[in-house]
Amino acid sequence: MNITLEGKRVFVSAGGAGMGRSTCLAFHQAGAEVFTCDINQEALTSLPQGIETFTCDVGDAEEVKKMMDEILPDGLDVLVNNAGIAGPTAPIENISLEEWNHTINVCLNSQFYFNRLVVPLFKKQRHGVLINLISGAGILGFPNRSPYAAAKWAVTGLTKTLAMELGPQNIRVNGIVPGNVNGERMDRVVQAHAEADKISPEVVRKLYAIGTSMQCFIEPEEIANMILFLSSDHGRHISGQIIGLDGHTETLYPRMLSEQGMV
Ligand SMILES: NC(=O)c1ccc[n+]([C@@H]2O[C@H](COP(=O)([O-])OP(=O)(O)OC[C@H]3O[C@@H](n4cnc5c(N)ncnc54)[C@H](O)[C@@H]3O)[C@@H](O)[C@H]2O)c1
Repeated sequence: MNITLEGKRVFVSAGGAGMGRSTCLAFHQAGAEVFTCDINQEALTSLPQGIETFTCDVGDAEEVKKMMDEILPDGLDVLVNNAGIAGPTAPIENISLEEWNHTINVCLNSQFYFNRLVVPLFKKQRHGVLINLISGAGILGFPNRSPYAAAKWAVTGLTKTLAMELGPQNIRVNGIVPGNVNGERMDRVVQAHAEADKISPEVVRKLYAIGTSMQCFIEPEEIANMILFLSSDHGRHISGQIIGLDGHTETLYPRMLSEQGMV
């Protein structure tokens, strides 16, 4: 199967690192015209020439509008709402209002800021693809990560709702649930969990892996390939789906094992 996105214009939020970066590279290789943004200007410099980059905080509605005003007049075929932050790892009573609001803003509100600008164009074109990055925390509970889980469950609801709202206009909306994705962010998340639970990072990684049926971690390129497929004509009748690419997550944190001293 050959996936080409020649002639397509795509936007991926937070393309400076992780899955956003891998997705930008995959789209670029498939011939698409790629636009991305990141809050970290330096991270964007590692992307190849030909990918158009913007420094933008996706949690700032004004900044998002200014950027999209430059991109949208020439059309857009695919929007990947990838940006998301892990937020704090702590029991709910130890989470500050600022941490709560910031996590909800970057993980959830940002998707609203982008969607409300892009959807009118998609409707006018009578086509468009929206892909939202969710998380296992958007389909399961995740102790000590309440703002992140609340935001990601909301993104699941937004995805299902927009698929229904926009399907009649030939606009497809899907969500992706990445599993334990290798990379710097996962290293940070594991470290935070290890400190919160006073166990070693190695044990946390083991717990994360055995929370999945396939006992695995996955690579960002696997997510990028799924996004490419969904954006292409091969995915033309896939909408309203919350697609796990995670070796089947059974639980996000099998804490019973650690609490009972079994690991
Ligand atoms: N890494 C995982 O294991 C994992 C698992 C499930 C879901 N997810 C979700 O997948 C998506 C991508 O995650 P990732 O791990 O590749 O990301 P990441 O943590 O590697 O970050 C990618 C980029 O986001 C940028 N960024 C952070 N805040 C920003 C902001 N306010 N505006 C613009 N850019 C900002 C960072 O500078 C960074 O370059 C997120 O929505 C995340 O919640 C990740």
